[in-house]
Amino acid sequence: MKLFTPDMKMADVIHGNYLLMPVINRFGVSLGVGEKTVRAVCQQHKIDVDFFLAIINAYSHEHYFQEKKLQTFNVLIIVDYLQKTHRYYIEAQVPLIEKLLNNLLRKSSVDIKQLRLIKKFFLEYKQELLNHLEREDVTTFPYVRKVYRLFNTSHPTAGEKRALSKYSMHVYEEEHNNVDEKLYDLKNILIKYIRSDSTEQLYQEVIFELFRLEKDILDHTRIEDNILLPLVAEMEDALFYPAEHSKRTAGKNALTRKMAKTFVTTEVKPSESPQALYRIPSHISKTGTQQFEELTKRELEVLQLVACGFLNKQIADKLSISLHTVISHRKNITRKLQIKTIAGLTVCALLNGLISPKNLT
Ligand SMILES: [Fe+2]
Ligand SMILES: [Fe+2]
Repeated sequence: MKLFTPDMKMADVIHGNYLLMPVINRFGVSLGVGEKTVRAVCQQHKIDVDFFLAIINAYSHEHYFQEKKLQTFNVLIIVDYLQKTHRYYIEAQVPLIEKLLNNLLRKSSVDIKQLRLIKKFFLEYKQELLNHLEREDVTTFPYVRKVYRLFNTSHPTAGEKRALSKYSMHVYEEEHNNVDEKLYDLKNILIKYIRSDSTEQLYQEVIFELFRLEKDILDHTRIEDNILLPLVAEMEDALFYPAEHSKRTAGKNALTRKMAKTFVTTEVKPSESPQALYRIPSHISKTGTQQFEELTKRELEVLQLVACGFLNKQIADKLSISLHTVISHRKNITRKLQIKTIAGLTVCALLNGLISPKNLT
């Protein structure tokens, strides 16, 4: 693994990984870097070169993620970078994918209904992503800045501390959900289930940009969960529980809190399943089963019911099997189809004729 270093030419960094162009641009660096080194460009733009290198190396090498090193940077620099990344998603990458999808809808002669379904799925995902980013922009990041300011105040008052009590990194940790799962499903559905025609090139462009956005978001989330969250949680501890904090951190590194995210793919959240809106299909359509040949008949039945919005318990009752068996079938379905979300399974089942739109009304 060859890491980027301060004395490399910035142009060679881009030659080394052209996907870094938008990442570098987030730091305020535009193309036209001439023969300048990374260090020179960073100096010119008043960028912390170590932070810049930590980010581009982490982005380029999946297994190179220097948690300890990244946790030494000023939290304001990290938040600034994360916010610029949000702007890039909102203003550039998401509109680009939408434009490409619209283009595909205009030009494709293949089943337009299928493409409309894909577009709808994308728009739902887009809204989910925008809500996620807005929550962080409006609540989390301003909170982080306030905590940082207070942490660096010599004698914060009780009133100043109280003003921060409405939010915490614990809340952030609880609510910080995966925003890449639907994206993964969308990409996977396009690759597996949509038949392309003369517009193959356009399909590839959409899928390529989905891959790019997914990779960027995974990297972004890694910084939020493993760097920002423990850093700010540590400041909170020092501010709100100073006695315990100093006891706990005496003689050991303060920044040891790990924020491992649990990857939940099969359990249904109540808000995701307004089952009252759905009607149970009377039979399983046979037309789509070819696409799902890896699934057993029972798994097909479970998939059909999941796609229609039924909860695990309801599926168990309907099929007269245990809850444990339903969960086991769902895990198998997710593993075999590589579709992680309920919305993704629904689109998948619709596209393949396993259910029809009237099952969803
Ligand atoms: Fe974010
Ligand atoms: Fe996030």
